[in-house]
Amino acid sequence: MRWWAARNEGRAEFVVEVVLQNVEKRWGSVTAVHDLNLTVNDREFLVLLGPSGCGKTTTMRMVAGLEPVTGGEIRIDGERVNDRPARDRDIAMVFQNYGLYPHFTVGENIGYPLRLRKVPEPERGQRIKAAAAKVHLDDYLDRRPKALSGGQRQRVALARAIVRTPNLFLMDEPLSNLDAILRVNMRAELKHLHHELETTTVYVTHDQIEAMTLATRVAVMDQGKIVQLGSPEEIYSNPQTLFVGTFIGSPPMNLLHGRLDNGVFTNSSVRLEGWPISASGDVVLGFRADAVSLAEPQAGNLSGKVFAVEYTGSGLLVVVSVGNAMVTAFGDLTKRPTFDDLVDLRLDPSAVFVFDPATGDRIPLPSKGA
Ligand SMILES: Nc1ncnc2c1ncn2[C@@H]1O[C@H](COP(=O)(O)OP(=O)(O)O)[C@@H](O)[C@H]1O
Ligand SMILES: [Mg+2]
Repeated sequence: MRWWAARNEGRAEFVVEVVLQNVEKRWGSVTAVHDLNLTVNDREFLVLLGPSGCGKTTTMRMVAGLEPVTGGEIRIDGERVNDRPARDRDIAMVFQNYGLYPHFTVGENIGYPLRLRKVPEPERGQRIKAAAAKVHLDDYLDRRPKALSGGQRQRVALARAIVRTPNLFLMDEPLSNLDAILRVNMRAELKHLHHELETTTVYVTHDQIEAMTLATRVAVMDQGKIVQLGSPEEIYSNPQTLFVGTFIGSPPMNLLHGRLDNGVFTNSSVRLEGWPISASGDVVLGFRADAVSLAEPQAGNLSGKVFAVEYTGSGLLVVVSVGNAMVTAFGDLTKRPTFDDLVDLRLDPSAVFVFDPATGDRIPLPSKGA
């Protein structure tokens, strides 16, 4: 029970590390989580990112103790918790649907975990006020949830989670029900809250922007497995698979299918020379919009017809059909092409990732040292 004792001695030397070792979850013939290995470091904000159905919620529920594991081990601060019931794991969860009690006021909702733990007044009232203040709800303590906006309800759920300084926060798509502006605001609130509280957090989302902006590290999941784990920068700039490359980034990574022979990439409409790679065979080239730009006539290495031009406020996204592929390039506002213009594009070969189309694995290029 080291983590309970340590908590009462103050946050400074108190470590909450969560280890998932060979964790598996099966329901009959369905395996939702396969042999998952992950260490969540103390005070880290770890994001589980992946498409719907990849096993994020299941993983979270196993950590929370709401779902028994069918294989492997979960340790919190070195202690095996497989058989420890949820209420004894000292974890606070925040869900997508808020889970507020409609007949309780905001203050009563926030204070509920303290009531369960028989925290007496006036301490309870003080802690409710402090938690509400952290999420800017001080003036709403007497309202009921139905008299709040979605964003405010989500903040009540957050305040209820932070009111009792748990060991660990688990958040499952907490912003997914909010509209776009609120989501962006709440993202910053969450990030700041984590900076203040430093509570180890596991956060689940299918939204890659949310993952990139919030995470200390991102674990990208696909079909019940972690396919890449790293800082947002690593995940973005060094994707190890086609899946990770295309799942991360906005606009999505551009892809060109073709063949590589003796350092020359070709498909029916593209020829790109000078790849520092001796292997030959089918490949997929992947590159982001910032690796390709509109070029002066004849100065490019790709050409195509403008399919659409999207104004983004600070610039343009120019979508060009290059053979049977669509290539999105960042453009500047001074040279605004229009539909069906024939344009040349300059692709920076050093910013191109080469993938094996059969396995989806990245093929390392000597010059990039990857
Ligand atoms: N209680 C359950 N019984 C059977 N299969 C389930 C159950 N809960 C989830 N699954 C399956 O496990 C997989 C992962 O689900 P989930 O963890 O909810 O994914 P995510 O949160 O990433 O969308 C899905 O294929 C889902 O259908
Ligand atoms: Mg889910």
